[in-house]
Amino acid sequence: MEIEFVAANAAAPQKTALARIVFEGAALDGQPARAAAASRFTGAKGQTLDILAAEGAERLVLVGAGKADAFDAIAAEHAAATAYGAVKASGLTTLRIELPKAGVDLAAHAALGVRLASYRFDKYRTKEPAEKKPSIVTTQVVTAEADAARAAFPPLAALADAISFTRDLVSEPPNVLYPVEYAKRVKALESLGLEVEILGEVEMMKLGMGSLLGVGQGSVRDSQLVVIRWNGAADKKAQPIAFVGKGVCFDTGGISIKPAENMEDMKWDMGGSAAVVGLMHVLAGRKAKVNAVGILGLVENMPDGNAYRPGDVLTSMSGQTIEVINTDAEGRLVLADAVWYCQDRFKPKFMVDLATLTGAIIISLGNDYAGLFSNNDELAGNLLAASGAEGEPLWRMPLPDHYNKQIESMIADVKNTGGRPGGSITAALFIQKFINGVPWAHLDIASTAWKKPSSVPTIPDGATGYGVRLLNRMVADNYEG
Ligand code: BES
Ligand code: MN
Ligand code: ZN
Repeated sequence: MEIEFVAANAAAPQKTALARIVFEGAALDGQPARAAAASRFTGAKGQTLDILAAEGAERLVLVGAGKADAFDAIAAEHAAATAYGAVKASGLTTLRIELPKAGVDLAAHAALGVRLASYRFDKYRTKEPAEKKPSIVTTQVVTAEADAARAAFPPLAALADAISFTRDLVSEPPNVLYPVEYAKRVKALESLGLEVEILGEVEMMKLGMGSLLGVGQGSVRDSQLVVIRWNGAADKKAQPIAFVGKGVCFDTGGISIKPAENMEDMKWDMGGSAAVVGLMHVLAGRKAKVNAVGILGLVENMPDGNAYRPGDVLTSMSGQTIEVINTDAEGRLVLADAVWYCQDRFKPKFMVDLATLTGAIIISLGNDYAGLFSNNDELAGNLLAASGAEGEPLWRMPLPDHYNKQIESMIADVKNTGGRPGGSITAALFIQKFINGVPWAHLDIASTAWKKPSSVPTIPDGATGYGVRLLNRMVADNYEG
């Protein structure tokens, strides 16, 4: 999608759809007023009204923006995304957006909204007829401050690029995106200025990562640990901040196999790691003044003659032993070694892990909120503030010490499941056993990594890219410069 910022008097190209975003109850005149009077269009948030051949444009679409005083950057994104949705398959090629309120930030975010809404994963559709494909290739945002908006847009474009990269990773089928291929795609991001290191099974064995390797043991695909570094701070040696992601490229459940229905969803069980990749992508893309480390634990969880079993005892890199009760509680086993390695090697200022960890978080919070668990109120506060500012909902959950009883093992230091009560909490408590004094937060994004149907117009159905903008904001607001 080509983005342009233009003055109101700039000539519109051929085949332009004009989108006029209007506040609820705003006075309209001329053709739009007559069209609105002939319909139920009031300007309420999310409404659209299509008027063909109006005001010299091929098409004029009115888009409801809701109440004027609630129109912020996120609302501008949503309105622009709704405008895109209304005309994307109209056959017209340019979308020209008129906003109801001036401001560089609003104009830039309207453009971001269209970038996010126009994301599509169509590389495996070989027979889609041209008339079904989106026709809009250029978006113009009308603004009196075109130069300033153009200058403000690059960091948002970097964010859109990063989110698209994350969505692509999450959307890829599991026969294509297995750990080695995934690591290769991340390695290619060195072109952005990132440093990428890949550890294979032999190296992980030497490090004693029996927990992560146990999960990958039943797969013919080799497990990988990927270390991504961005050193953008003035002092390249300054203590980094760190992010760790669960990258289960496919989760069958292993020997504790999952039911067939919806198992295909488990291709996106690497969504936490993909969000970490997206974060590193945007930090590099906008040359953030921070030192950051991203660590991905990449495995495939398969049933096999060589697979790990319920009853097995694994020895983690931390030295702690883990009794496997259920091979489908594999994400926490991957994270146990990944977070330990991260702290051990990088001694970060703080560490945030992201994981599609539990079905229970969906039961707790529904489809819009991710769960936040943290041992540090300041870190948790920064994450919640960023969540609000970026429109990626997050809700803090407790880490009650006495729930640790649920994961006590008869024969090892800990067991990998704690039963159904508080399933997301005991999963987080499990990870906490591998946290070694650093401020830490865990985001359970099983509820938000994938959407069908989507609840906001900037997120098409499918991979959401949840977490990238939240973390990007949290870094920008607190840890740069
Ligand atoms: N990847 C799943 C969690 C999940 C479920 C993500 C649904 C997205 C949608 C995870 O590995 C898992 O299987 N968790 C089990 C844990 C249980 C065996 C203790 C679960 O949530 O049922
Ligand atoms: Mn599982
Ligand atoms: Zn899983």
